[in-house]
Amino acid sequence: MKIIKTQVLTLAVLLLMFSCGKNDKNVLTLKSPDGKTAVTFTLDEGKAYYSVSKSGERILNPSRLGFMLTDNDSLCANFEIIGTKTDSKDETWQQVWGEEIDVRNHYNELIVNLQEKTGKKRLLNIIFRTFDDGIGFRYDFPRQENLTEFEIADELTEFALANDDSIWSQHLFDRDYEQLYTKRKISEIADTVSTPVTIETADGRYIAIHEAELVDFAKMNLYLPLTSANSRSGKLKADLTPWSSGIKVYAHTPFVSPWRTIILADNLNDLVNSRLMLNLNESCKIIDTQWITPTKYIGIWWGMHLEKYSWVQGAKHGATTENMKQYIDFAAANGFGGVLVEGWNIGWEGYMVGNGEFFRFAQPYPDFDIEEVSSYAADKGVEMIGHNETAGAITNYENQLDSAFRFANKYGIHSIKTGYVNPLLDGKERHSSQYGVRHYRKVVETAAKFQVMIDTHEPIMPTGWQRTYPNLMSQEGTRGQEWDAWSTDGGNPPEHSTILPFTRALAGPIDFTPGTFNFTNPVHPQTRVQTTIAKQLALYVVIYSPLQMASDLPENYENCPNFEFIRIVPVDWQKSIILDGKIGDFVVTARKDKHSDDWYLGAITDENARNLKLQLNFLDKDKKYTAKIFGDAPDADWKTKPSAVEITETEIDANSVLDLHLATSGGAAIQFKAQK
Ligand code: NOJ
Repeated sequence: MKIIKTQVLTLAVLLLMFSCGKNDKNVLTLKSPDGKTAVTFTLDEGKAYYSVSKSGERILNPSRLGFMLTDNDSLCANFEIIGTKTDSKDETWQQVWGEEIDVRNHYNELIVNLQEKTGKKRLLNIIFRTFDDGIGFRYDFPRQENLTEFEIADELTEFALANDDSIWSQHLFDRDYEQLYTKRKISEIADTVSTPVTIETADGRYIAIHEAELVDFAKMNLYLPLTSANSRSGKLKADLTPWSSGIKVYAHTPFVSPWRTIILADNLNDLVNSRLMLNLNESCKIIDTQWITPTKYIGIWWGMHLEKYSWVQGAKHGATTENMKQYIDFAAANGFGGVLVEGWNIGWEGYMVGNGEFFRFAQPYPDFDIEEVSSYAADKGVEMIGHNETAGAITNYENQLDSAFRFANKYGIHSIKTGYVNPLLDGKERHSSQYGVRHYRKVVETAAKFQVMIDTHEPIMPTGWQRTYPNLMSQEGTRGQEWDAWSTDGGNPPEHSTILPFTRALAGPIDFTPGTFNFTNPVHPQTRVQTTIAKQLALYVVIYSPLQMASDLPENYENCPNFEFIRIVPVDWQKSIILDGKIGDFVVTARKDKHSDDWYLGAITDENARNLKLQLNFLDKDKKYTAKIFGDAPDADWKTKPSAVEITETEIDANSVLDLHLATSGGAAIQFKAQK
């Protein structure tokens, strides 16, 4: 990613901070560049708080800052302010891939230097950044004599929302973030939830809480603590994922926490187009990014989830040389860049009993001839996407990391899907603990050295690292489409994909694996894909990923006219717009292709059919387009007639209005081809 404009304004012209209140010097306010968003830092009897407002309206009441260290050692009181510093930046940088090309990073910054007044007189800095679309803050523990090695027992950060609004959140099931999102009042939260959480205010605005640049810390989750009166406090509080020792973070000064982030958006378009988390990560560390190539892929994969194939060797083994060659042929014939292959390497017998120690990441099974497959793929201009399932045995994986990537380099493999199917890593640590965070980062950094792109399943929730390491292409971290093949609860409900763009997707791209055309699985008749085919197509626009899978078996795509949309839809964009939507009900997303003047649109709905009237004024004003619409037929219905798709063509321009009918759990996928 290249910075194309940098402007650092001098402190003198900023006049960002002002003091107010009875204890003037202990109240500091930092406003966003447009002056609308303000964060106020307050030191009250030695304790640190921040509050947030927008356009004069309170968003967060005073919320506690600080830490408890182990041995009941508090680093949260007895402070005085010993210094402050302000700064500002306005730069525009370009993404290697993404939902838009140019990203503006425009913020004001305030650093508050705190010191304990007595005792060890330890130092703690709090860094605030205000953007027009929200705020970020982090803790900075400077190098100092009385704080060298330390252990964090608890992070005290609170998010004391001013109103008891509705919140979309996912219950924390630490391994993989594969729970359904629910909507409830903030005061009804009685469990621990994972971020991002998205709050819908009574007057239709949005607040999303998450974090950025989680590199060597524990993941932040949220809960609502009980007060002494046994009622909930109303203040969401950080709940860091612990190590098995119970300690949250092992640290050594100098040390920084990740950024705590709060997006403030007046509408869904602003929410989804906030790049706050990316902006709070370091700029790109990869100098030559030519090898990082977004693409679509198919895979020897869905067959395993349907139990048509097996990962292990045997009569049903999916990853055979012959099978792989057929998939490569299909990919080449349809312009797909990659073929994912799972079950190609030694160790799956262990996986079947939850043991990843037997995985060998450079040793194919005997019926998978890697020499033959890789030269066949190269001849056809298709790449094999490798698969490194670890079953959570990460020491085993780390010991083989270099050889795994060297193997990839040798056989022309530039993308690897990693996997961590196990509730614990190395049998003891949780995925989103500091132990896990360090591992996931190490894999991405090592992969970058070997020019390998990564797609992680069972990840920790993304926090914007893809700015620094854009070889981190996509991540699961959601209840993806594979659940529809075997889930005991019947599959992902129709509203699921209308929630994801405004919750999980704020954190980063999702490897959702859409594109299933055959909705049932004879082996698990209790479940199915709960959409129409037109909705499956629309998901390619609605749910963003630079690596986008066509999940179904090739035979279900052969001779199917609907497959054309999957073939033509791009995976990399100039810009993206939410045209309409309501979280949990429906979404209409338009995106402009990065490499042409063409636009694409995806509209999806929940269990309710709906008719939409779309103003096409987002299209380029000076152009005429041929719109190819893959929409639900009038009698389509996800339960009774999911495959009823009508493909129509019409000439339109930016003044046109388009009427769309979406069936129950239906959708529409549209290509707007610019006329020459
Ligand atoms: C779970 C992943 O999400 C899925 O895509 C993969 O096929 C299996 N693990 C096996 O690694």
